[in-house]
Amino acid sequence: MNVIEKPIHLFGTAYGRKPATHDAVLTEVGPGTPCGEFMRRYWHPVGLSERVTDRPERVRILGEDLILFRDRKGRPGLLYPRCAHRGTDLYFGRIEDEGIRCCYHGWLFSVDGQCLDQPCEKNGGEHRDRIRQPWYAVQERYGIVWAYMGPPDKMPLLPRWDILEDVAPGMKLHVTHSSLYAGGDDDVELVPCNWLQEWENVMDPFHIPVLHTTFSGVQFVPEMGVMPEVHWEYTDTGVRYTAYRRLDDGREVDRVTAAMFPYVRMVPNVQLKHGAASGVGWVVPVDDTSLRLCFAMKIPESENSLPRSPNLRPWSKMTEAERQRYPGDWEAQVGQGPITLHGEEHLATSDKGVGMLRRTLLQQIKAVQQGQDPAGVIFDPAQELVRVEAGNFFRDTATR
Ligand code: FES
Ligand SMILES: [Fe+2]
Repeated sequence: MNVIEKPIHLFGTAYGRKPATHDAVLTEVGPGTPCGEFMRRYWHPVGLSERVTDRPERVRILGEDLILFRDRKGRPGLLYPRCAHRGTDLYFGRIEDEGIRCCYHGWLFSVDGQCLDQPCEKNGGEHRDRIRQPWYAVQERYGIVWAYMGPPDKMPLLPRWDILEDVAPGMKLHVTHSSLYAGGDDDVELVPCNWLQEWENVMDPFHIPVLHTTFSGVQFVPEMGVMPEVHWEYTDTGVRYTAYRRLDDGREVDRVTAAMFPYVRMVPNVQLKHGAASGVGWVVPVDDTSLRLCFAMKIPESENSLPRSPNLRPWSKMTEAERQRYPGDWEAQVGQGPITLHGEEHLATSDKGVGMLRRTLLQQIKAVQQGQDPAGVIFDPAQELVRVEAGNFFRDTATR
C-alpha cells in the first residue's frame, strides 16, 4: 500500500477534529441535574422588589418557568405558571387581595399556592382545599425577592451581607439586573451563555491586563495593565485570590477578589480605588445557556446606576464593528459559546483559579449527591451575617 505522509505544514488543521463536549455536571442546572440539585440548596435572587407588582411577571431561573407577582396585601408570590385546574398560564391572571385569580375559570391561588376559590363550583369549591398550585418560598431583603427552590426540609437561612447592612445617611442600596459587561448596560439583562463562564471569570485575573487594558484600550484604569502576581486560595465557601501589583509610581496594591457558592461574585472597584468592595453580585443561572446578573451595592443617594467606566459606551449602543475592535467581557464570555466546550480547552498556569473553582464546585455537587449540605448554606442564626472580604488594599496608605 502506498502511504502518503502528512505534509508537515498541514499538521493541526481543523479537519477530522474530535466532536467537542461540555462538562454537563458542572454547567447544567435544570431540575434533577447534579449541579441543579446543588444550586437548589441556596436562596436565589428572582426579582427586584420594585418590579414585583400586581402585574404578573415571567421569571425563568434554573431552567424553570415561573410567575412572580405581589398580592394586594403586599406579599410576593412565586408560582408554577400552569393553573392546577386545566393548565392556563397564570401570567394572564388577575391579582387580588389574597392572591392571583386564573383568567379561565377563576380559580384563586394564594402566594403559597392554596386554592381559595373555585367560582364555577358549588359553594366556591367544596374540595378546593385539596388543590395546591406548585409554589416556592420567597423572602424580600435588600430590595430583592429571593426564592428557595430546593427540598423543603433543607431550607437554609437567607444570608445577610455585612456591606449591605447599615446604609449610611446620604447613601442608598442600589439593586439592578443591569449587565456590567462592557462597562454596564441597563438595557441588557439576559446574557446568552452558561452561568459558569461568567462565574469562573471572577477567578481569572489575567484577562484584566489583556482584554480590559491592552487589547481593547483602557476599559478600567491604566494601572490594571500591570501583570499581577497572583495567589489563589480555597476558602470555606469558594475560592479567593490576591493579585499584587507594583505600580509604575511605586505604589503597591493587593486586589482581593472572591467567588462564593453557589455563584456569588465579590469583585472590588475596577478603578482600583482603595478599600473594601462596596457591593455583592450574583450570577443567576436562567437556564443552561443564559444568565442574569444581580447586583446590590451602596451608592450615593444622588446616583441612579452602578459606577461604570467613562471610556465605554453601553454595549447595546455599540456597532458590530466596534464590538470587534473593542471587545469586553460580553464578547469574551458569550464568545465562548452557549456552553463552552471544555473538551477543547488547554488550561495553562494562569488558569489556576478557574481550575480550582471547578474542582471545588465539583466537590460540592458530589457532597449534595451524597446527602451532605453544601458549603456556605447557613442554618445557625449566629452565622447569618456573611463577611465580604474583597477589596483593593494599598500597602502603604500614605502614598495612596
Ligand atoms: S384553567 Fe385555571 S381556572 Fe380553569
Ligand atoms: Fe472582565
